Amino acid sequence: MKVLVTGGAGYIGSHTVLCLLEAGHEVIVLDNLANSSAESLRRVHELTGKKAQFVELDLLDAPSVDELFASSEFDSVIHFAGLKAVGESVVEPLRYYQNNVVGTLNLLASMNNHGVRTLVFSSSATVYGATEEVPMVEKMPLDATNPYGRTKEQIEDILSDLGAADPSWRIALLRYFNPVGAHESGRIGEDPTGVPNNLLPFVAQVAVGRREKVMVFGNDYPTHDGTGIRDYIHVMDLAAGHLAALDYLPSHQGVYRWNLGSGKGSSVLEVIQAFGEAAGKPVPFEFAPRRPGDTAVSYADPSAALADLGWSVHRSLSQMCEDHWRWQVNNPSGYGS
Ligand code: NAD
Ligand code: UFG
Repeated sequence: MKVLVTGGAGYIGSHTVLCLLEAGHEVIVLDNLANSSAESLRRVHELTGKKAQFVELDLLDAPSVDELFASSEFDSVIHFAGLKAVGESVVEPLRYYQNNVVGTLNLLASMNNHGVRTLVFSSSATVYGATEEVPMVEKMPLDATNPYGRTKEQIEDILSDLGAADPSWRIALLRYFNPVGAHESGRIGEDPTGVPNNLLPFVAQVAVGRREKVMVFGNDYPTHDGTGIRDYIHVMDLAAGHLAALDYLPSHQGVYRWNLGSGKGSSVLEVIQAFGEAAGKPVPFEFAPRRPGDTAVSYADPSAALADLGWSVHRSLSQMCEDHWRWQVNNPSGYGS
């Protein structure tokens, strides 16, 4: 298949591009490098011996996006491109709606103009909002609580309307839980700019000595050890979920929603402990107040993805930490190392 991957130079995108190339697909990456480096794709080439074509382009540049579709015959699109920092989205909502929603509308218009109607979209468990009901199932009502999450919810609505209006569309909405880890080679991984917002990259930077200690946000949640519980998923398992969705769509018209998670929750303290074991040294931490907007527990019911796609996770929390650590220790400053 000839697959356009938007945001393919980023964290999840680069791992998925690697899997697509290994599976024999032809890959074209569209990315404006706003939050990534083309070095990730150079390393994917080094690892696979196969090259994805790279087009440096912003989805907000609608005429250029349309030219790309006019000059290429894509079979399908995997759409990762977007801004993803929750806190930043609260401060700069217009930038988030513009980039994520308008960027997606531009992409959809070009897909429609050129008859490319197979799409896998990066949604997020954040669309479930602050519900205390777990596990999360796809049919639950959506209630995102911040601008970033609302861009995902709005794009899901747009895609649902599109599928209802024109049944020739084949759309997978993949709701990721908490992606972590790195390719087992330690050559590609997550390269956050500035202070990491997410737990694993922060823990990794403490373990490698870039930061002093982890602040554990809240130890008074109604959980077994008082800290927040999340469903961590290895980025290579997540990448495999995209290939499974891409295999499914050619024989299924319509719009499909799948949770991509393990179905198991781990607490912040369990993650810190597992990472310390992977790194061979304890990771210092301190309890701090709850982070505003956080919920106590979030984990997926991943049974729909298993039933429909035959997909489930294969990698444990230990493996996520070992692979994340290998990437961190070999590339202490990410792709700038
Ligand atoms: P990332 O920032 O590493 O990758 C996103 C890529 O999109 C980057 O390479 C960036 O340069 C590119 N991009 C952004 N805006 C663009 C635009 N207008 N035009 C072209 N390229 C653009 O993030 P990631 O962690 O790989 O996430 C990929 C997708 O998955 C995002 O849509 C994100 O919202 C979603 N997601 C991520 C998580 C997570 O925790 N990492 C969880 C749920 C959903
Ligand atoms: N945490 C800490 N200290 C830190 C960072 C996080 O204790 O320095 C805690 C949080 O309070 C939470 C857990 O670690 O209990 C996980 O936090 P993350 O920030 O790693 O992940 P979230 O579940 O809050 O959110 C992430 C993404 C969202 C996405 C969501 C579901 O940031 O964009 O996963 O996919 F929507």
